[in-house]
Amino acid sequence: MPATQEVILSGIRPTGRLHYGNYFGAIRHFLRLQEQGARCYYFIADYHALTTITEREDFYRQTLDMLRTYVACGLDPQRSVIYRQSDLPCTAELTLLLGMVTNIGHLERGTTYKDKLSKLREDPKAEGNPLSYGLLGYPVLMAADILIVRADLVPVGDDQRQHVEMAADIAEKFNHRFGETLHVPRAVGRDALRLPGLDGASKMGKSEHNTLDLLDDPKTVLKKIKSVETSTDPLPLDTDSNEPDAVIPKMPTGVGVLYRLLHLLAPEEVYLDYLGQYRQGGKFYGSLKKALAEHVSKFNEPIIERYNDPANNDDFIKDFLRENAKQVTPVALETVEAVRQAIGIGHSLFRA
Ligand code: TRP
Repeated sequence: MPATQEVILSGIRPTGRLHYGNYFGAIRHFLRLQEQGARCYYFIADYHALTTITEREDFYRQTLDMLRTYVACGLDPQRSVIYRQSDLPCTAELTLLLGMVTNIGHLERGTTYKDKLSKLREDPKAEGNPLSYGLLGYPVLMAADILIVRADLVPVGDDQRQHVEMAADIAEKFNHRFGETLHVPRAVGRDALRLPGLDGASKMGKSEHNTLDLLDDPKTVLKKIKSVETSTDPLPLDTDSNEPDAVIPKMPTGVGVLYRLLHLLAPEEVYLDYLGQYRQGGKFYGSLKKALAEHVSKFNEPIIERYNDPANNDDFIKDFLRENAKQVTPVALETVEAVRQAIGIGHSLFRA
């Protein structure tokens, strides 16, 4: 391993079925980093999921299925270290130790915590989990995830940037107080695209029920694309630019969703051809939808195929999770031991 190899880490909450928002927001970026030969740690944040989990019976099953889809997309457990957070329980130990030196005020300024708090104030009887110690401590657990492997770069979406900055802060404060022990990480944008939902809502999301899924078969794809709202005729674009960011915001919302996807999936000339038709006006949305559905299905086809590959089964997933957890454990324990030493309790004398 070259000494300069960068260490990348990112966590993924286990959400079950993966959709286009996940792909273009995160997976594509993970694949690129994997290709570049960085040391990539991608883990399933199952401890973190406990702050919001509602369907406990399906949880483990969903985690395995999601990993199966990741592998089908090209994430390779031989090249990237893919593991479950809970298979690295010394993360919990590091969380506890970091918690001793983390100011509560710092955590109370966390946006996730503040959002939940204000929602509960608006509606104290709201369904769901109470304001837990785990939720307040969410950023400390996340700091432990990052610091434990001494990550250099943490690719995250905008909503998680603050958490990565908090991790860097915790590391700096720790080092200041106890001597250079922890490596200070940096957040990197995923140059991710926030895909709109098929209903035109600003975000494609599982709980919004507006997703196009990576495992959707051609029939489902066509049905979903056809249902995108396109009753408004083309509006003037007022620009000669063909850049999606310049033209899509000027289109009726549903139509914009179609063009966004077309630009991502179809060859440039197909996108430009349909943009030309848009500029001319007329009735072409039916043909656009059919063409787009074909491109989506073509994109999904190899993913579905690899998902259904008999070799990509539960045993395969569990085996690589086990192997990769074994690989990351010594790295993680080295950090935990250094922190124990720095904080004053000394190295552990026994580990189960
Ligand atoms: N909190 C992140 C999310 O909701 C997931 C996550 C957990 C994570 N630990 C992490 C991301 C460490 C990056 C680094 O998406």
